[in-house]
Amino acid sequence: MSQLEFDEQEARQLEGMYEIGDARRRRELARAALAAAPGERILDVGCGPGFYCAELLAEVGESGWVTGVDSSPAMLALAARRCASHDNVELLEGEAVALPVRDEAFDAALTVQVIEYVPDVEKALAELRRALRPGGRVVIWDIDWDTLSVHSEDPKLSERVLRAWDEHLAHRTLPRTLAGRLRAAGFEVVDMTAHAFAALGHAPDSWASALVPFLGRFVAGRAGVSEEEADAWVAEQRRLEEQGDFYFGCIQFCFTARKPR
Ligand SMILES: C[S@@+](CC[C@H](N)C(=O)[O-])C[C@H]1O[C@@H](n2cnc3c(N)ncnc32)[C@H](O)[C@@H]1O
Repeated sequence: MSQLEFDEQEARQLEGMYEIGDARRRRELARAALAAAPGERILDVGCGPGFYCAELLAEVGESGWVTGVDSSPAMLALAARRCASHDNVELLEGEAVALPVRDEAFDAALTVQVIEYVPDVEKALAELRRALRPGGRVVIWDIDWDTLSVHSEDPKLSERVLRAWDEHLAHRTLPRTLAGRLRAAGFEVVDMTAHAFAALGHAPDSWASALVPFLGRFVAGRAGVSEEEADAWVAEQRRLEEQGDFYFGCIQFCFTARKPR
């Protein structure tokens, strides 16, 4: 399994994770930052299974438009199903660094937990800028994975597991440099809000609890973590949940910026 390339089963697993309460909370926060208005044209880069596209369609109404772009055909198939009742949406296979959209076609753009996977951040930001009209808004949401903290009774194994998990990313701590990169890409009014996603005890509706099996599957056989060790780490996290001793926290960052008029 790679976080960047999803087959049908992996795409459906991610879709399931995005149904949980924390994922809904994240979407509410990101959509509030975007503040889409009726009639607007919105671009969602790395739209995944299309939850944002569907929710943004409700916000822009019939006079608005939503374009979702993703590099994964499996994700786009789920997004198409989710948006099937609308005809003011298009879902396009494409790369964040080469968006298949016209210049200045959008009032606002959103990209949630995508740019941290894109090696050439500058190119992705330049593409977002190109796609926006003058004065257009962008919301970029990414995670500082260095803020991820997990309770384990085997801290050495847990540390190795988390280091192996880093391999799923191009940029482990992107939020630290994103404001400067946005300004260098020609955006203005760059702002940032931090959001903690943490879970304690038995927390089945948390992003953290949902992430555990993903993380375990990804790290097995990577960076010296054997399948048995990955399984043991997941089993320990599940046991801690059952005992009420689970702890998992991380900080996610929402950046807002504008293309100059
Ligand atoms: C963690 S998921 C987030 C999905 C969606 N933004 C959400 O929050 O519901 C990352 C998504 O970005 C897509 N992706 C990763 N790298 C990409 C790239 N270079 N260009 C376009 N999409 C990409 C993946 O296929 C996946 O659907």
